[in-house]
Amino acid sequence: MDIKERPTKKMSKFETLEWKNNELILIDQRSLPKVEKYIVCKTVEDVAYAIEKMIVRGAPAIGCAAAFGFAIGVIEAKKKLKIADDFIFKNHKDKLQFLKLIDDFKNKLAKTRPTAVNLFWALEEIQKTFNSNFHLTVAELICSVNSKAELIFNEDIQANQKIGINGAKLLSEKVSVLTHCNAGALATAGHGTALGIIRSAQTLGKKIEVFAGETRPFLQGARLTAWELVKDRIPVTIITDNMSGYLMSLGLVDAVIVGADRVTSNGDVINKIGTYSLAVLASKHNIPFLVACPWSTVDMQTKTGADVIIEERNPKEVTGFDGNIWAPEGAKVFNPAFDVTPAYLVSYLVTERGVVTPNNLDSLKTEQ
Ligand code: MRU
Repeated sequence: MDIKERPTKKMSKFETLEWKNNELILIDQRSLPKVEKYIVCKTVEDVAYAIEKMIVRGAPAIGCAAAFGFAIGVIEAKKKLKIADDFIFKNHKDKLQFLKLIDDFKNKLAKTRPTAVNLFWALEEIQKTFNSNFHLTVAELICSVNSKAELIFNEDIQANQKIGINGAKLLSEKVSVLTHCNAGALATAGHGTALGIIRSAQTLGKKIEVFAGETRPFLQGARLTAWELVKDRIPVTIITDNMSGYLMSLGLVDAVIVGADRVTSNGDVINKIGTYSLAVLASKHNIPFLVACPWSTVDMQTKTGADVIIEERNPKEVTGFDGNIWAPEGAKVFNPAFDVTPAYLVSYLVTERGVVTPNNLDSLKTEQ
């Protein structure tokens, strides 16, 4: 895994993921906003490590990373078994050997994080492409899998742009939005979901200001969302998570907009820990609660939020940060990375296919 470092520049553009010469380049989200560091993933092991350790994070972004990881896996398997470009699998033993390696790579990627459905969705999508092109030469097979990974990436950007427009239409001309975690360009292939709506609203000329919840313990709000918004010159105020109720009671929030890691078929939303608390507070204060996500985040196979595995992360994330430990040894820690917001607390789901109330997800099942 190679590392390239450069100091962050206030207004410069950045790419969350970049696919170049069969390698995946990721901005290291752990070191933002202090340092702009890029990690070059050359093996499936590199990509799996990057997802697990949150070098890359955010549901759609980890889906894209997994798709590129699969593509790297096919190239790696070819190298490992010393197969020529024009080789076609005919012999049963060759096929089994190759497929076993691909399967191991896919499992390694699938085991990195359990909650965001985009990871599993992307792996299944690319597996389908692999299966239907397995009869071709190995070079053609690699080419088809690479193209599919690029398509997943490009379609995510397009979906976010549509989400942006669909969501911006719901906002008034002068609006103050509270967001949680980071559902921006850093969490997707580009533009963002919740931040996509905010960006599109600004482009449409709306006067928008944002409150970014800090998002303990990984600080995606304070570090990443604020970083993205400052770059785009969108006014942003950081609050700690426990300030949101007071903020709402003062009438300072017109809408809450968050992303999602998974939406189940009954409309329950699984998102960053703290989302549920915000939804309860928003309901108490009659503030619209919007969830922005691409259709790849909707999991129609899973009925309710209770059926989803909620990832629990290392206790060290709660007892300290960046080498600074503030909790006493011996205290127990609970560190769920996500929570479940029941469908009835969600005003609208904003997707690229349209805007619906959560009990109406079915109406978007087939693409218009
Ligand atoms: O643990 P993370 O940082 O991967 O969690 C990310 C979130 O919860 C985001 O809100 C979600 O993935 C939506 S991103 C468009």
